[in-house]
Amino acid sequence: MAQLIDGKAVAARVRAEVKAEVEKLKAERGLVPGLTVVRVGEDPASKIYVNGKKKAAEEVGFNSWELHPDDKITQDELLSLVDKLNKDPAVHGVLVQLPLPKHIDAERIISAVRPEKDVDGFHPMNAGLLSAGKPAPRPCTPFGIMRLLREIGCDPSGKRAVVVGRSNIVGKPMALMLLAADATVTVCHRKSNLPAEVANADILVAAAGVPELIQGEWIKPGAVVIDVGMNRMPDGKLKGDVEFDKAKERASFITPVPGGVGPMTIAMLMRNTLEAAKASR
Ligand code: GUN
Repeated sequence: MAQLIDGKAVAARVRAEVKAEVEKLKAERGLVPGLTVVRVGEDPASKIYVNGKKKAAEEVGFNSWELHPDDKITQDELLSLVDKLNKDPAVHGVLVQLPLPKHIDAERIISAVRPEKDVDGFHPMNAGLLSAGKPAPRPCTPFGIMRLLREIGCDPSGKRAVVVGRSNIVGKPMALMLLAADATVTVCHRKSNLPAEVANADILVAAAGVPELIQGEWIKPGAVVIDVGMNRMPDGKLKGDVEFDKAKERASFITPVPGGVGPMTIAMLMRNTLEAAKASR
């Protein structure tokens, strides 16, 4: 029977670490990290996520601002807003919440954020630095998963890691971080033979966004299973990408949904913002 990985508890610890460093930064350098979140329009999920980010930012002692233009904002107007934040010395982290309305080219906006303030780690320059194995702000969800692995004493070095999903936000950066930690990494997608690949995984990261895509019986006995899925079911409940009840019979460690990976994303955003502030002057 697998041990549950308590992401809520680890995330609280990360926030406490950040808070302690913020106090030091204030005392020693008179520097208060500042995070601005831009939320365009009225996506209900975005509102919940952004509220979580603001709450965490206040809790760790950051200055935090939310800008909330309506969905009529033009791409040029949004670009000039980002430019203003880029130039504002009190703002160390700029996060434009996704998704953006259809008339706005999200890639253009992400690329307009100064790489040093890109606390999401989504800017092409930061993606490039990560792939080159160089320090840079890292996408928060995979960064949080690396922390969870550390917390359970799982060193990826020499292990077979299988990442299911190849998004720019989770799958691809996850594969690069595991590779940098000396895992042998396989990235799976729609055309992969999932049961065969999953059976080899010492570390499995499921980030496909398909409820219960990964069957419990595919999982290698003793594997560490990290479930990034947050699939809202018709009954309102959240389901992961892994068939949890069967997977926990085989895994050594497994993240629950909710309460596993989810809370780590915001915690690592706090870490990225703190690091951006520390590097700012
Ligand atoms: N939308 C869903 N998750 C995220 C995230 O981590 N960052 C941003 N900017 N938008 C999101």
